[in-house]
Amino acid sequence: MQENEILTYAKSWIKEAGEQIKKSFQTTLNIETKSNANDLVTNIDKETEQFFITKINEQFPEHRILGEEGNGDNLEDLGGVVWIIDPIDGTMNFVHQQRNFAISIGIYEDGVGKIGLIYDVVHDELYHAVKGKGAFFNDLPLKKLNEVSVSEAIIGLNATWVTPNRRIDPLILGTLVRDVRGTRSYGSAAIEIAQVAAGRLDAYITMRLSPWDFAAGLILIEEVGGVSTTLKGEPIQLLQQNSVFISKPGLHKSIVENYLKGKEW
Ligand code: IPD
Ligand code: CA
Ligand code: CA
Repeated sequence: MQENEILTYAKSWIKEAGEQIKKSFQTTLNIETKSNANDLVTNIDKETEQFFITKINEQFPEHRILGEEGNGDNLEDLGGVVWIIDPIDGTMNFVHQQRNFAISIGIYEDGVGKIGLIYDVVHDELYHAVKGKGAFFNDLPLKKLNEVSVSEAIIGLNATWVTPNRRIDPLILGTLVRDVRGTRSYGSAAIEIAQVAAGRLDAYITMRLSPWDFAAGLILIEEVGGVSTTLKGEPIQLLQQNSVFISKPGLHKSIVENYLKGKEW
């Protein structure tokens, strides 16, 4: 894989797409709902996905694309080079706040994460990683993650999971919330995973994400020595929905041992 060449194109396309998204702030959005009333998609999500598909097809016709809005390829495996794209992660923030959303792109070769990019458009903050070469924030290297105790940790967690819901007993994560120093919820899984990679959050926990939400983030996390598993401690499956638990390594172990082990959900 021509990593440098692919990275150069991906960075320039992500910035160009970001400019287009910012221009859309002056226009009237066409907003639709998907799986439920709070699952939003706009014409800009779709146009941004299409922008990447056109560019990738022109430049790298042999690469395949898995995009959230479904205009890429129908993938049943991860053979060859696959771009996994969330054109706007945090669409609710995009619609309501015009900030706090990101473009997320994970590039895999035969199922192995090679290049990850997460671009927080409005803050002009680009996180990227190349397998074996480190992770970067606006091109400055990110440090390996240090350790932190549960009582000094700040974790990313959506309030949904500590109120009655269909996926987990709220008391399980509620007990963890009681014991940590603080919780944060940014409304964009990609940004939250990037914040863990940058050491601004110590862990991120959520009960259900799709491949485009975490594809780029997993590559960043690996490069800074973090751990990514499902909440059961199992490997994350790239082509399906998973619960996701991303953390500094020691903190991951303490949370599994003290809060999750032996619990049923
Ligand atoms: C959503 C965001 C949100 C997470 C949801 C995702 P979308 O992605 O990442 O933070 O809690 O599970 O679906 O729909 O805005 O691309
Ligand atoms: Ca999206
Ligand atoms: Ca998403």
